[in-house]
Formats: sequence, structure tokens, C-alpha cells
Amino acid sequence: MLEGKVAVVTGAGQGLGAAEAVALAGAGARVVLNDLPGPGLDAVASRIRDAGGEAAVCPGDVAEWTTGEALLRAFDGLDILVNNAGVLRDRMVFSMSEQEWDTVIRVHLRGHFVTTRLATAHWRSQSKASGRPVYARIVNTSSEAFLLGSPGQPNYAAAKAGIVGLTVSTARGCARYGVRANAICPRARTAMTGELMGPAPDGPDPMSAERVAPLVVALAGPAGERITGEVFVVHSDVVAVLAPPTVRQTFHAGGDGVWRAEELDAALAWAFTADPPAAGFVCEDTLPLASSTFGEDR
Ligand SMILES: NC(=O)c1ccc[n+]([C@@H]2O[C@H](COP(=O)([O-])OP(=O)(O)OC[C@H]3O[C@@H](n4cnc5c(N)ncnc54)[C@H](O)[C@@H]3O)[C@@H](O)[C@H]2O)c1
Repeated sequence: MLEGKVAVVTGAGQGLGAAEAVALAGAGARVVLNDLPGPGLDAVASRIRDAGGEAAVCPGDVAEWTTGEALLRAFDGLDILVNNAGVLRDRMVFSMSEQEWDTVIRVHLRGHFVTTRLATAHWRSQSKASGRPVYARIVNTSSEAFLLGSPGQPNYAAAKAGIVGLTVSTARGCARYGVRANAICPRARTAMTGELMGPAPDGPDPMSAERVAPLVVALAGPAGERITGEVFVVHSDVVAVLAPPTVRQTFHAGGDGVWRAEELDAALAWAFTADPPAAGFVCEDTLPLASSTFGEDR
């Protein structure tokens, strides 16, 4: 599916990034592997090469501009960018340190921006030079934590919401150059979630990272040509595409058409009656998808 294509995968030293890189290489892509320096990267590169694939290793902090530049230089050209690197610094918002906030926003949101900025500039100038759209795919990594407003992860929920905004903006702003940008909200048993999900069952693990990778390959492949600005939930045997938020209720000013605070107060008091109120902008639709697999041996 991806013969001759060059793919960059960030955070590819373990977990989802490693599974995605191996799957992209299995589909024929030449893969540039990024992660923080460590033994994981070389091990993943060896797996790819042992299976007859091609891999380059490009260690570095993904939020650094120089890392982004090195990723683009690793092979000649770039066709597929998979932004996956991430960290957690979980804490309730009232006890979170500045550093815990900054680290998570920096790695996830700035990390996605740096590579996206450099890749889209590259594709735009290629497209302008040739006078036609190029082959260009971005797969970003969001999380259901943003849909749920995960209470113990304000930094992570904010970063993952930001990644969706970046994805849709990129999809719209770069469509004319051929760029297709989508986001996935994966679930998998990895170092990041091991404590939450517990040990893997004996035999095949429905929550393995390998169950997420086929969607990344598909979005990077031919079908991805017609898919952009979408957000997918993916785990086990489930791939779901989210609908965008909709308007639930509208309040129109009567009389002279200007809302006054007292009138609006009355209208809102009539419309919002739950006591105590539950957070309104929460999407729990994806929870039933997960309950069939989360922690179960299937
Ligand atoms: N596992 C899940 O269920 C799940 C759910 C939702 C979202 N995600 C997202 O999927 C992505 C991968 O997570 P995972 O579960 O494989 O976790 P993981 O911890 O196994 O892998 C994350 C990788 O990112 C790397 N990384 C961290 N900071 C980096 C930096 N500054 N530069 C380069 N690499 C860096 C880590 O070294 C690690 O190898 C993350 O963005 C995560 O938020 C995972």
C-alpha cells in the first residue's frame, strides 16, 4: 500500500509509535523513527530491517525545532507524518505545577506543531513547484481524555483538544496542496496505560498497540485521500469516527433584539435546571465502545 513512501513516526521507541512504525514499514514505507535517545529506537529499527524493511533512526525531543528539521532530512522527501510522541503528568488542576502543565503542553501540542509546520511548508513548496497537489498525510494522536474532560488530566485533556483543533485547521488550510490531516484517539495497553489497564491476558491481547496500527496505515494509504479533518476512536476491534459538536439550544433576545443580563439570567435558569450541574460539554458516547474491551480478555 505504501511502497516507496517515506513516513516519519514520533515517539516510535515503544508502545503505539513502535507498532505504527512497524505496520507502516510492513506496508512498504521507508520509516524515520523518532523518540528521545534510548535503546528502544534501535530495537524497533532492527525489527523493521530484520523483516526486510527500511528504517532510519532520528533521536531527539520532538518539541525542538532542530529535531523536526532532522526528521525531514532523514530520507529524501516526506509523504506521511505520524505525530504520536507523548507524556503524562497527571494531577488535579488545583495542585498542578507549572512544570507539569508546561511539559505536557510542550511535548504534545508544540511537538505536533513543530513537525506539522515543517512538513506542510515542505509539501506546499513542492505543490507550488509542480503545480499540482502532492501525496501528503498527517495522522495526529489525540485522546478520549479530551472528550471526557478527564478530571485528573487537565494538561493532557487541554493538549489533546488542542491537537484536534490543529488537525482540523491543518486539514482546511492545506487541502489545496494535497495534505490530508486526521486525528486518532487510540486505546492500548502500553507503558503509559499499563497501570490503569493491568497486565495483558494470556494469548492475544485485544488492547494491544498492534490493534491501533492498521487505522494509521489506512489513513496513510489510498483510502486516506478522501478522508481529512476527521477524528477517530480506535481500539481492539473498533474504529469509530466522531461527529463534530452540534448546537444544543439557541437563545434569541426578544423585544429590541438585545439581551439584557436579567432576561438572560431568567432564560438560562429555565434551561439549565440540574442541581448540582454536571459538566455539559462532555462526550461519553465512546465509553460503551470501550466497555466491551477495556480490561476484558476477549
Ligand atoms: N495508550 C493509550 O491507551 C492511549 C490513549 C490515548 C492516547 N494515547 C496517546 O498515544 C501516544 C502514544 O502513547 P503510548 O501509549 O504508546 O505511550 P508510551 O509512553 O508507551 O510511548 C510514548 C513515547 O513517546 C516518547 N516521547 C515522550 N516525550 C518525547 C519527546 N519530547 N520527544 C520524542 N519522543 C517523546 C516516549 O519516550 C515514548 O517512547 C501518546 O500521544 C498518548 O498520549 C495513548
